[in-house]
Amino acid sequence: NPIKPPEIDKCGTATNLNNNTQLDINCCPPLSQNIVDYRLPPVFQMKIRPSAHRVSPEYIFKYNMAIDRMKRLPKEDPRSFMQQANIHCAYCNGAYDQPGQGTLDLQVHNSWLFFPFHRWYLYFYERILGKLIGDPTFALPFWNWDNPKGMTIPPIFVDPKSALYDEKRNQANMPPAVVDLGMTRNPDPLQVVANNLTIMYNEMIRGNSDVYDFMGQPYREGTPVNPGPGASERGSHTAVHVWVGDPSQPSGEDLGNFYSAGRDPLFYCHHANVDRMWSLWQYFLPSKTVPDKRITDPDFLNAAFLFYDENAQLVRVTVKDCLDNLRMGYDFERIDLPIFPLTL
Ligand code: C2O
Repeated sequence: NPIKPPEIDKCGTATNLNNNTQLDINCCPPLSQNIVDYRLPPVFQMKIRPSAHRVSPEYIFKYNMAIDRMKRLPKEDPRSFMQQANIHCAYCNGAYDQPGQGTLDLQVHNSWLFFPFHRWYLYFYERILGKLIGDPTFALPFWNWDNPKGMTIPPIFVDPKSALYDEKRNQANMPPAVVDLGMTRNPDPLQVVANNLTIMYNEMIRGNSDVYDFMGQPYREGTPVNPGPGASERGSHTAVHVWVGDPSQPSGEDLGNFYSAGRDPLFYCHHANVDRMWSLWQYFLPSKTVPDKRITDPDFLNAAFLFYDENAQLVRVTVKDCLDNLRMGYDFERIDLPIFPLTL
């Protein structure tokens, strides 16, 4: 059977998975008796998520204003900045158990739920931001770390006066430091860029022998957590988390730890690119080894999560409704794909 959505009235204490100690924060969402099955609204105008390295001053202003307003919402509002960050903690640090499965944890990483969960998470985050600035076309930026032009932390996140700033980051990796997708610690930035491209090529095109190698391994009701991550989750995705997190913090906060990752606005920009990788893999990139990129297993399609939407309504969403980003109303700015020519 598919993984069921969590029972949020049974949400409990969370564990710091970096050192296996109990966290002394409450990352459970506000309760609500009223859960609605979410229906994707009709798409009148496609939102275009821009590359964070290329955004206009007008966009930066809007994005800042939206995050600033999110930070000013009352703490108990499920749309507030901290509540949004805590979604990641609740779903990833053992605060939820699988309904009806005793104390078996619910975990959305290291399995085929990774891409769908984070896609829905960003979907509502983006709609909340849009609502806060009265702009339904607002789209999150993506950190284009698969392209040499985007291989530094996007400059819009490093101004200490900006709402997009977070001080818990590795200060040694501020721009112009080049992101190290292979965790090579190679001091030569040109070699790191070349290695990054090789990594992306392997994750996206060459390395996968079936659909689960990319998407992550099957994860069903009653089975233990962490059946296995897909290539992109395990590789570039995790490397970016570790690379940005602050090694002088006790547990790699913010981006380097599940419970705190969502406290850095850069998290959502990073994951917008992870989401873009899924879309590119699904629709654009060739693969000799994985001719059919769909998972038709009903335990995948019917897995479900709960989120608060932009109106603070608690909604139930399913994996099958998030398989096509165009149906969800957003697309990505078209940027050249340096990894693609390598296949020709
Ligand atoms: Cu839920 Cu990038 O992790």
